Amino acid sequence: MRKVILPVAGLGTRFLPASKSIPKEMVTVVDHPAIEYVVKEAVAAGIEQIILVTHSSKASIENYFDRNFELETTLENKNKLDLLKEITEILPPHVSVRQPQPLGLGHAVLCAKAVIGEDDFAVLLPDVLVKDSDTPNDLSLMIQRFDKAQASQIMVEALPEYLVDQYGIVDVKHSPNEGESIVMQGIVEKPAIGTAPSNLSVVGRYVLPAKIMQLLENIPKGVGNEIQLTDAIAMLQETETVEAYRMKGQTFDCGSKIGYLKAVLHNGVDHPKLGEDFKTLIKELEL
Ligand code: G1P
Repeated sequence: MRKVILPVAGLGTRFLPASKSIPKEMVTVVDHPAIEYVVKEAVAAGIEQIILVTHSSKASIENYFDRNFELETTLENKNKLDLLKEITEILPPHVSVRQPQPLGLGHAVLCAKAVIGEDDFAVLLPDVLVKDSDTPNDLSLMIQRFDKAQASQIMVEALPEYLVDQYGIVDVKHSPNEGESIVMQGIVEKPAIGTAPSNLSVVGRYVLPAKIMQLLENIPKGVGNEIQLTDAIAMLQETETVEAYRMKGQTFDCGSKIGYLKAVLHNGVDHPKLGEDFKTLIKELEL
């Protein structure tokens, strides 16, 4: 498993006004843009090539993951070597493809078909940040399981019933333990409350076979009049085993403002240099 698709073409309307002139993926969580956490998660799981499915307004994402000769030379000349290291250490090989129309997540994944070729691949949705509880991380465990069981892996977490209509929900015989996979009976996109097959929601981390591209090419539009990745997975599961992997870590849905604030809080507290001062600040607020 060497390739990951990061769909970043969305305009981030849920994150306006911040996302009006900067991509929502570039909004900072403490001192790094949100997307860097997702790229680091992929790299930690052994991914070697990042495929950005992007939009003309998102050039700053590509620039962030590129070398910046002028800046690097300036930092070198000023002997600011720690900063130089920080800006050069996360530059994984990446390519960009465009999503010319906003036709849904399934369509975004399909836009990367030519780069994927015959390779199996992972999809990471950058709206969701995963805070791993362990090494190897959840994504690594999914990839290991994919290789061993030859079964697609869909990362899920348990969530309260009133939220099920905002996510993909899986149908399983029983809820797996954290860190375990279970065969999926089905998957539905944003079911109405009271109709969901379980309380296990699709987090936005997938390990999929190359052949899903053919399914994406042929499925009709689904919920929201969009080409849904969930529908292609449901179709895949009719002919081969697809498993739901229950994550051990924690998620922050940065697609929502409150999820974003939670991500800032957790990453601020955990920050190696700022953490202690940040905790003091929080205590001051607890008056
Ligand atoms: C997408 C997927 C959904 C998944 C969610 C996770 O929905 O279609 O199945 O649960 O991401 O964030 P979106 O948030 O793009 O509407």
